[in-house]
Amino acid sequence: MSLTKENDKKYIANTYKRFDLEIVRASGSFAYDDAGNEYIDLATGIAVNSFGACDGEWLRAVTEQLSLVAHTSNLYYTSPAVKLAQLLCEKTGAKKVFFGNSGAEANECAIKVARKWGKDNKGDEYTGIITLKNSFHGRTITTLKATGQDVFHKDFGPFPDGFLYCEANNCEMLKTMVSGNKCCAIMMECVQGEGGVLPLDKEFVACAEALCRENKLLLIFDEVQTGNGRCGELYAYMTYGARPDIVSTAKGLGGGLPIGATLLFDSCENTLTYGDHGSTFGANPVCCAGAISIISRLDGALLAGVRERSKIIFDTLAHAEGVKSVTGLGLMIGIETVRDAGEVISRCMEKGVLVIKAKNKVRLLPPLNIELDVLTRALEILKEALK
Ligand SMILES: Cc1ncc(COP(=O)(O)O)c(C=O)c1O
Repeated sequence: MSLTKENDKKYIANTYKRFDLEIVRASGSFAYDDAGNEYIDLATGIAVNSFGACDGEWLRAVTEQLSLVAHTSNLYYTSPAVKLAQLLCEKTGAKKVFFGNSGAEANECAIKVARKWGKDNKGDEYTGIITLKNSFHGRTITTLKATGQDVFHKDFGPFPDGFLYCEANNCEMLKTMVSGNKCCAIMMECVQGEGGVLPLDKEFVACAEALCRENKLLLIFDEVQTGNGRCGELYAYMTYGARPDIVSTAKGLGGGLPIGATLLFDSCENTLTYGDHGSTFGANPVCCAGAISIISRLDGALLAGVRERSKIIFDTLAHAEGVKSVTGLGLMIGIETVRDAGEVISRCMEKGVLVIKAKNKVRLLPPLNIELDVLTRALEILKEALK
């Protein structure tokens, strides 16, 4: 066992079950281990390295900002944060943005905004937030409670009250929950990522939006994993034709550096006031510079390329041996396998392809711009591993 692996076990908290692989370098669609072996990376650090690892434009943007000012805090103005917020607002119609450092923090902010908006607009007791069963919203105490999966709740209580869980795609249940509870918001992922890469039905998202409008509730989309081009539009809610009040995002936004954003639309743009929220590292100039280089490149042609690559993957796998089903949207894809998913992942790794798990499925999250010949090579290896 290498010293890194040995000391990882000794010094790092036991929260991660790692693959037996030490990555020492990565570039574009490829990662390299400590023995110099090359892997096609269809995992992108769990949907983070949007244009592959260390892509040239991102690297230039980040290193240039690094040499100017790496950090100042939110006590002072900095231009990368403002430019990024403007870009996000112009591309989505959002009015204001709060920057944090992760997906969980983006959701914490969304939840705080919803609660305060509820008090301001409906009354002190309107604190309920409806989320979906099988959802995943993060690992802080509050976002764990927002997560509609009991398995995440054991051992860490007591939790904050006020989260109610509706079955995904059950509009009748949602209606009953909205009418029977004092709520301020409905929050959902358009594609449940950690839940097994399951896209919501269009009718259900439309039903949730209509209920929000009729009952004066905020509609929150958790686009931490689905966002930033991953699902074939800038944000997945756009594919659904929905109009959000709040969008939380992270992961691919930074292209490899930690940043989260909470986008606030007209209804709640001024809900937060001085002192309501904050973050020391939030809006870090280096992370914002990296994010600008990602978001500014997510144009029509790039997104068409995501959809093209998605179609190639779906077409290749739909009738492949060893595949029970393929679900997902854009380049967020889950494969239900005949073999155990863990075994397929190991077989892929042995042959030089990195894929990961989501529940019992094999999950693919390739770079948005993966070269078509590299994708074809990776799919050939995956098909062999699935057999
Ligand atoms: C939909 C969704 N929300 C929130 C999170 C939490 O993000 P982070 O790990 O950056 O806190 C994740 C992470 O997988 C996610 O997929």
